[in-house]
Amino acid sequence: EYPVVVAIDGPAGSGKSSVSKEVARRLGWGFLDTGAAYRALAWHASASGVDTDDAASVVSCLDSFDYRIGTDPHGYAVHVGDTDVTEAIREPGISAVVSAVARVPEVRTHLIEVFRAIMAAEERPGIVVEGRDITTVVAPDAPVRILLTASEAVRMARRSAELVGHSAAATGAQLRARDAADSKVVDFMNAAEGVTTVDSTDLDFDATVEAVLAVIRDAQ
Ligand code: C5P
Repeated sequence: EYPVVVAIDGPAGSGKSSVSKEVARRLGWGFLDTGAAYRALAWHASASGVDTDDAASVVSCLDSFDYRIGTDPHGYAVHVGDTDVTEAIREPGISAVVSAVARVPEVRTHLIEVFRAIMAAEERPGIVVEGRDITTVVAPDAPVRILLTASEAVRMARRSAELVGHSAAATGAQLRARDAADSKVVDFMNAAEGVTTVDSTDLDFDATVEAVLAVIRDAQ
């Protein structure tokens, strides 16, 4: 019995994580934030003193990368070994280097295996998995595949609201640079065949959650 996989991709600031988390909570299903794993690896490489621009050094960190998703009641905490990095991986310093780590092919191969193992081990009836290449590479056969988008202006506004204390201009520039770098590795701006687009530009949080739940219901 495999769990139902709900694959959700989209650009930075599309609301993917918060929406996916809430959808999983309402269904009582599991949740996997794959971006958090790339961030945790970027954190681990930095903490190990590795130059994140050097692919070979990043690859050499994979053996000692002990990625664990939290067992807290909400299940969203991220640990590397015994260190809780849930907050540290959201720092702009990590956002600035994560794309370089994520474009290394050996990193992607390694993490995709980790993600598939987590999906297969899910004991609830389903799991919501979100990232950039879930609908196309990690789980292309998922029965529910969604591309969650929003206009660039709305995505920037949402992200600056999250990062209180950082300038909106700097946040916007970093978000654009990250999307540009990430788009060279995987296409998450255009829906692949069979993938349903949910555009949240004019939807508030609850309406977006409802729209995603409706796609899931329609697929069953
Ligand atoms: O989703 P989030 O913005 O936290 O992702 C952080 C980074 O992880 C992205 O900028 C991208 O470089 C990488 N990523 C990826 N593939 C995924 C999810 C995230 O390359 N499926």
